[in-house]
Amino acid sequence: MTDRSLPSVRVSAPDRFVEEAAEEIASAIRDSIAARGVCRVALAGGGTPKPIYAALAGRRDVDWSAVRFFFGDERAVDPSDPSSNYRMVSTTLLEPIAASEEQVFRIHGEDDPEQAAADYDARLGAEPLDLVLLGMGGDGHTASLFPGDPGVDVTDRRVVVTRSPVPPATRISLTLSAIDAARRVVLLVSGASKAERLAEVWRQLSSGAPVLPAARLSTERLHWHLDASAASALPPKGTQ
Ligand code: 6PG
Repeated sequence: MTDRSLPSVRVSAPDRFVEEAAEEIASAIRDSIAARGVCRVALAGGGTPKPIYAALAGRRDVDWSAVRFFFGDERAVDPSDPSSNYRMVSTTLLEPIAASEEQVFRIHGEDDPEQAAADYDARLGAEPLDLVLLGMGGDGHTASLFPGDPGVDVTDRRVVVTRSPVPPATRISLTLSAIDAARRVVLLVSGASKAERLAEVWRQLSSGAPVLPAARLSTERLHWHLDASAASALPPKGTQ
């Protein structure tokens, strides 16, 4: 963002959020494929994107064979563990669209975390990611970059091992600078439980002294997609 006080934002009605987010993501994927023949997308974990992935899985207007699937973060668990982001993404999106193994670049949460981070960095390649999807936690974290974790400040690596205040404690995450390097970033937030924290993020953006990880993304290619419940404590448009 050139003017950090005015983030690029779209607000959907709560009952339209999933459909409109799926449309926005499908459109970004199609644009990338039209421009470069491929879309390298990093997916988010958590509950917010789950129904969006399910909606995307039903779309026939995306050439899924041209998509390469990466991950914004992973928990240090086996891929069969119920808390694995890979497992959630597999069941909601990758299996329904019949993605091949060659299309999927997962973070090996079952390996030694530092090794898994280094291996994932190597698999990321030199090209920027075309699209990074993110969520925001109730504490203002994004990906697995939690407030106060030293990983939030790392700028010389693309992948770090972090600690979560809630289990599973050990996480592997893209860094803020790796996310900022992407061609497009979409941060999805829904639900009234996020409203106050989101308002705090907005205040930090206006102050020019962001502290919370979600407020510290600094790319002008970041787009916030909110539902009206999450946006309910934000200042009216034009006054922020
Ligand atoms: C994860 C994430 C994380 C998530 C937020 C929001 O692995 O859980 O990638 O950053 O997006 O915690 O999660 P919810 O959508 O469940 O609120």
